[in-house]
Amino acid sequence: PPPGILPGKVHFPKTSRQLPQAIIIGVRKCGTRALLEMLFLHPQIQKAAGEVHFFDREDNYERGLEWYRRKMPYSFRGQVTIEKSPSYFVTPEVPERIHAMNSSVRLLLIVREPVTRAISDYAQLRSHAASAAPGVGTPAPVVLDQRSFEQLAIQPDGSVNESYRPIAISIYHVHMHRWLEVFQRRQILVVNGDQLIDDPVPQLKRIEGFLRLEPHIGRHNFYFNRTKGFYCMRNGTSEKCLKESKGRRHPRVSPLVVNKLRKFFAEHNQRFYDLVGEHLGWPE
Ligand code: A3P
Repeated sequence: PPPGILPGKVHFPKTSRQLPQAIIIGVRKCGTRALLEMLFLHPQIQKAAGEVHFFDREDNYERGLEWYRRKMPYSFRGQVTIEKSPSYFVTPEVPERIHAMNSSVRLLLIVREPVTRAISDYAQLRSHAASAAPGVGTPAPVVLDQRSFEQLAIQPDGSVNESYRPIAISIYHVHMHRWLEVFQRRQILVVNGDQLIDDPVPQLKRIEGFLRLEPHIGRHNFYFNRTKGFYCMRNGTSEKCLKESKGRRHPRVSPLVVNKLRKFFAEHNQRFYDLVGEHLGWPE
């Protein structure tokens, strides 16, 4: 086949695979999937399937930019290609690598109140551990970690366990600092993930502006699904909710522990606000 045409893959003429001009860099459990799917309502957006993990996984990064480009969807001239890999945000090597690809790339960082994010992370780790457990007849017995969120997040002496991954990831300023050493502040848009849940349209309008897209996404693209408890998307004739793993039930966490964590994060949140020059109004 002619260059650029994969055998068996049909695509429109005048389209090609482009390196992403915008990347959702994280934060995991803050609504990265919702954000990507909602942006895809826009006719000028093309999205990579799955999470590409090019910049954060050594084996992928070694395959080179051409491998990465081939992971991208076909797009028309003028369309913006986006991919999301939430672990980019917390992987130290990534900012430099993205910068080396395209120093004027636009980055989307979606954040959520850090304690809620940590609990969501715990809920996901628990559910993955449960599904990885062997079924009947599988030999090696795997002992499921049944520790509660409280046991993992708080140390026996009562202090916050900062090295527990769900807590460490929520200390946003530590990671953000690295990005701002490499990128200009105006290249990064901070999206409020709690607001994306409550009322997606205003956040999406901000992003349209940031990505210099024509205004397109509006109220007509969303309806609230009471069973799911979240907004779902509507585009012309089709409707779509995110899958069950998005919008999980969270375990009940002792209010004492929630309060302790909120106090712990107050100072870290302030450092994040100072760094990005925006106040996200998270409870203390
Ligand atoms: P929970 O499952 O803890 O509620 P990510 O895609 O980065 O893993 O983020 C998952 C989170 O996206 C979910 O966390 C959920 O709260 C949030 N989310 C935001 N908008 C959503 C929507 N419209 N439908 C489902 N989940 C949504």
